[in-house]
Amino acid sequence: MHNIQLAATQIVQQVLVEGRNLNQVLDESLRRKSVWTPAQRAALQDLSYGTLRFYGQLNAVLNLLLHKHLTDQRITYLLLVALYQLQYSKAAQHAVVDYAVRSADMLNPKIRGLVNAILRNFLRNQAELLAQAALSAEGRFNYPVWWIDELRAQYGERATALLDAGNQHPPMTLRVNRQRATTAEYLEQLAALGIAARCIEPDAVLLDKPLSVDKLPGFFDGVVSVQDAGAQYAARLLDVGKGMRVLDACAAPGGKAAHILERAGVAAGVEMVALDKDEKRLQRVAENLQRLDLSATLLCGDAAHPGEWWDGKPFERILADVPCSATGVVRRHPDIKWLRRKKDLASFARQQAEILDALWPLLASGGQLLYATCSIFNQENQEVIDSFVVRQADALRLPMDLPQQGLLPNDQHDGFFYALLQKTA
Ligand SMILES: C[S@@+](CC[C@H](N)C(=O)[O-])C[C@H]1O[C@@H](n2cnc3c(N)ncnc32)[C@H](O)[C@@H]1O
Repeated sequence: MHNIQLAATQIVQQVLVEGRNLNQVLDESLRRKSVWTPAQRAALQDLSYGTLRFYGQLNAVLNLLLHKHLTDQRITYLLLVALYQLQYSKAAQHAVVDYAVRSADMLNPKIRGLVNAILRNFLRNQAELLAQAALSAEGRFNYPVWWIDELRAQYGERATALLDAGNQHPPMTLRVNRQRATTAEYLEQLAALGIAARCIEPDAVLLDKPLSVDKLPGFFDGVVSVQDAGAQYAARLLDVGKGMRVLDACAAPGGKAAHILERAGVAAGVEMVALDKDEKRLQRVAENLQRLDLSATLLCGDAAHPGEWWDGKPFERILADVPCSATGVVRRHPDIKWLRRKKDLASFARQQAEILDALWPLLASGGQLLYATCSIFNQENQEVIDSFVVRQADALRLPMDLPQQGLLPNDQHDGFFYALLQKTA
């Protein structure tokens, strides 16, 4: 276990100290561990994600246990991972402590006694320490204080439920490719394999328990994809019709573009242009479309600078699934809580406005643009749209069958915001 504990320590440290993305760091780490079993890989993922999910609380507890700051940061992160295991995992307590002491021995032998003392102290006074840690907002909610304040200002009493929702394990939802099966047919296939699931949206099937994709019938043949139910609203809201020319301006990895094409059907002759700024991520769009047997024109370019890639032909539909703080999907990416800064919201809002302004001239008269984010902050949602419709006299916000403030994360979907705009001139 101490190998896993040490590997998780390094991952958590790289995220918190170097500001690196958790997915990437974990992927790199797993690639170096080709001999690890699936169970060991899953344990590493759990320790890394879990420690970051509960970092606010674990760090508050550690500060109560330490009498002075540790000079060796590696030991700080080792202790955080071990505290996560003691508090949240099923691992035997004595084994967690023993492994942490052995890991400390490898990192810094002078500190092994301290590691042992701190973890045993935690076990002796667990309830009291947790109660004391919960007195600070960061320790209670597991988010930085600016985030808590911002949500409270925006959502009032509902903020607590939203903060807690972001600390749950995310649901796993599939999108059934309606070219290949109905949700009812796919549910039957799952039931035949003993996989419990239910339909929650026209194409969305929610699994009772997450499962690796190689266990899903038909996944590699394009019968299903993994996609949150909130993300599946986009294709429905955009309502693409026969023969339309459609731009997905921030397309990678291609989930929403693929859903639009699946819904329309090949016979509809939809002409999809899938743009993304990131060449590597665009490759994932190509792979996904290939698996699903769909086609689109892929372009690498900046949505804020259409002069560099647009052929001058207008689009009847545009999806602007813009870069954002991703604060609606923190249960899938708990590192976001500690990597984002308050000032990032203003910087995203500027980029979002720039992309909207640049894309608007590409929309045909009478055409529709769907603006989408996976943020739960007004600054990137309502405020961006409010100022856009003031700037753009020919933009009309259309009503949608959705709450005005967007979809808030719950046990069926992540947090998303959508606004549908029509060009009136
Ligand atoms: C929220 S993700 C899109 C998810 C995608 N629509 C889906 O459903 O699979 C945002 C994407 O925007 C891309 N991006 C960021 N800034 C961009 C820009 N200025 N122009 C084009 N793409 C951009 C990022 O590379 C990222 O892939």
